[in-house]
Amino acid sequence: MDKAENEVLTRVGPATPMGALLRRYWWPVWFTEQVTSKPVPVRLLGEDLVLFRDPRPDSGGRLGLIERYCAHRRVSLEFGRVEAEGIRCCYHGWQYDRTGQCIDTPLEPEGSRLKDGVKLAGYDVTEAGGLIFAYLAGAGDVRNIGSGNIGATNVLRTGKRWAAAATLIFDGGKGAAAVLLAGYFYGPMAALFAALGAFLGHLFPVWLGFKGGKGVATFLGVTLAIAWPVGLLVAGTWLAAAAIWRISSLSALIAAALSPVYMLLFGWREPAILLAILVVLIFIMHRENIARLLAGTEPRIGAKKPAA
Ligand code: FES
Repeated sequence: MDKAENEVLTRVGPATPMGALLRRYWWPVWFTEQVTSKPVPVRLLGEDLVLFRDPRPDSGGRLGLIERYCAHRRVSLEFGRVEAEGIRCCYHGWQYDRTGQCIDTPLEPEGSRLKDGVKLAGYDVTEAGGLIFAYLAGAGDVRNIGSGNIGATNVLRTGKRWAAAATLIFDGGKGAAAVLLAGYFYGPMAALFAALGAFLGHLFPVWLGFKGGKGVATFLGVTLAIAWPVGLLVAGTWLAAAAIWRISSLSALIAAALSPVYMLLFGWREPAILLAILVVLIFIMHRENIARLLAGTEPRIGAKKPAA
């Protein structure tokens, strides 16, 4: 067996072939009687997790199994406090429910929605024969991972780069296709309305309960289709900003904000007005990212756990 084959057979993390295979099964993780309200650190299939039980007598002793490290400053939740609604980090008090969704950020200003965009991985657990079993189920539904967003950046958090690339291409492609088809059959103004329709359709899809993506890839797609030189400038701006700051959301916001300016530099007024409208929507959809950017907690590109 050579080194490459050994790697394939022994790596079991979320983004590995063996990891995908082993995640099809339920795994015993602990003894039922040993899990009380004190969180238990668990390492399973290369993932650092924390197992805890609802301490309330009337709760039926519900279990939770979520990613071990707090999304704020990566403090281990094994030192956290288990409360009625989930587990609370011992450092700044962020609280997570059994799905890993952050439900409380006590030091944030009142009305802050920062917590809505923060989610740790959370897995199903069940008890049988005195044992606790967990199902790590691969990447699962992307809406239950990371920020819960359906966009490429969040898909990348599953560890599946091909899926993130496909998401980027198809999200951009559908916007470009709408613009090109409308422009071909009905003219330039129709193309602009098609761009707006495709963008709104991505942000508020009917089939996903009006909870869609943040529109960056679709924005790039429609921009390339409306005026490819501007699209290339926007893409170049994103790459340059990402190379400097390594923050995806910040790069997207900078690139989007400059797009109407680029359009005006070419003398294309109506497209510039359309892009300005789309930019406002992009900033609204990124309001939680902006809050995290201001708080200095927005994750950087490539910030991930080491392979198992
Ligand atoms: S490190 Fe967990 S809340 Fe700050």
